[in-house]
Amino acid sequence: MASYDVIIIGSGPGGYVCAIRCAQLGLKVACVEGCDTLGGTCLNVGCIPSKALLHASHMLHEAEHNFAAMGLKGKSPTVDWKQMMSYKEDTIGQNTKGIEFLFKKNKVDWLKGWGSIPEAGRVKVGDEVHEAKNIIIASGSEPASLPGVEVDEKVVVTSTGALELGKVPKKLVVIGAGVIGLELGSVYARLGTEVTVVEFLDVVTPGMDAEIQKTFQRTLKKQGLTFVMGAAVQKTEATKTRAKVHYKMRKDDSEHVIEADAVLVATGRKPFTEGLGLDALGLEMSPRGQIAVNDKWETSVKGIYAIGDVIDGPMLAHKAEDEGMAAAEQVAGKHGHVNYGVIPGVIYTHPEVANVGATEETLKDEGRAYKVGKFSFMGNGRAKANFAGDGFVKIIADKETDRILGAHIIGPAAGDLIHEICVAMEFGASAEDLAMTCHAHPTYSEAVREAALACGDGPIHM
Ligand code: FAD
Ligand code: NAI
Repeated sequence: MASYDVIIIGSGPGGYVCAIRCAQLGLKVACVEGCDTLGGTCLNVGCIPSKALLHASHMLHEAEHNFAAMGLKGKSPTVDWKQMMSYKEDTIGQNTKGIEFLFKKNKVDWLKGWGSIPEAGRVKVGDEVHEAKNIIIASGSEPASLPGVEVDEKVVVTSTGALELGKVPKKLVVIGAGVIGLELGSVYARLGTEVTVVEFLDVVTPGMDAEIQKTFQRTLKKQGLTFVMGAAVQKTEATKTRAKVHYKMRKDDSEHVIEADAVLVATGRKPFTEGLGLDALGLEMSPRGQIAVNDKWETSVKGIYAIGDVIDGPMLAHKAEDEGMAAAEQVAGKHGHVNYGVIPGVIYTHPEVANVGATEETLKDEGRAYKVGKFSFMGNGRAKANFAGDGFVKIIADKETDRILGAHIIGPAAGDLIHEICVAMEFGASAEDLAMTCHAHPTYSEAVREAALACGDGPIHM
């Protein structure tokens, strides 16, 4: 029986970051992982492979749509799907091997196998039981199921199957206009697939700034995606090569059927706690199946913590990572903290969509007075040169104090631009602070500064 200060269950971005931080803080640490590779959903079947396919398909889009205009003439590339899959697998491999290297470097033991917690202070992996002063559950999430829809991961797939389809489908139905549906829907649309997105609500990406939602949907329509909004999927019927999706329009209960070569079910994810033995431990759970924790990530059982997708909050890799670092610090007797008010969200389509903090809608609900500064990428020289003038930066600031409350960007490199605003928000900055900061020319970042100027006396280039 080996004995540790900390055993972490799960090696996703929550678990592996937590393990490394624990080791850096001088703790003896092990991480249990049941899959053959480290890195969890994010590295194996999530963030990394989806971004590889978004990158590859974006390159094709650029070649098809913008190369000739820049004087780059010649035959457009064709899609070698097998090679694209192998590029994706290579990318995954480099990243998962990277975590293995970091574990070795930091002397984190990888306990290979599926872990369970027979009692506080003990973790069972296979036939071995290990002692741990502290246990951190970072077991992540899995796709939520949809009544009437049977996933076979060949024709009716979750994101996992959609990342490794046998071939590029001619027709794809995506159920759910959330982050997964729109990212992977974009990939296939760019590769030539006819993509129809069937969404229950009347808006895409629920919870986002309403103006961004509209602009985003309009942009995706222009890129060839078709949307059926306000439609509740009832069931799917699949053969080995095709599937029918039955849906009912919410406004008039009319029933419709759509057929495709593949169906992507992207209607959310749920916490994964199977096999951990939490019932027997009496660990308190939320009604939504998440592990309940306090502000130190402690569960209801002393010495057991939980972080990442398995607890409340946005299911995002960087949120899991931040909790991993903070929980490690708590275990080490320090004061780990996560500012949940400043967690950016990014959708890696083209253009990208990024947000942080309050939306106009939430502020209206709270009755809080605010002002908006907006700047279109059409007024940004770099964006115009790069065929990336679609979209805008919107900064929301407190009407009285000018303190930045939130930001919403749709446009080139939005996922990088948002961090300038995150840092500003962490420091309690005003829109004027951003506006008075010199920004290099010509950069996309100038659009952020211009939006900040628009919160005051006005932007220069609009
Ligand atoms: P996970 O990454 O799910 O890792 C949990 C790990 O625990 C798994 O490896 C699992 O095998 C292991 N495990 C579970 N139970 C046990 C057990 N009993 N014993 C041993 N091991 C166990 N987020 C972003 O921020 N940006 C993105 O671009 C992004 N893209 C995504 C794309 C897709 C297609 C998907 C599905 C998700 C994406 N996400 C993205 C979400 C992101 O992947 C998750 O929020 C993140 O992985 C959560 O990290 P985690 O550590 O909590 O759990
Ligand atoms: P989601 O919650 O983003 O979207 C699900 C969508 O499905 C919603 O729009 C919902 O209204 C719709 N829906 C639900 N039931 C339906 C039905 N019966 N018929 C039609 N539509 C229905 O969930 P998604 O896209 O599956 O993503 C899961 C998680 O993964 C998200 O929480 C997200 O944070 C994370 N993720 C993050 C990424 C990123 O940060 N770039 C990329 C991919 C995933």
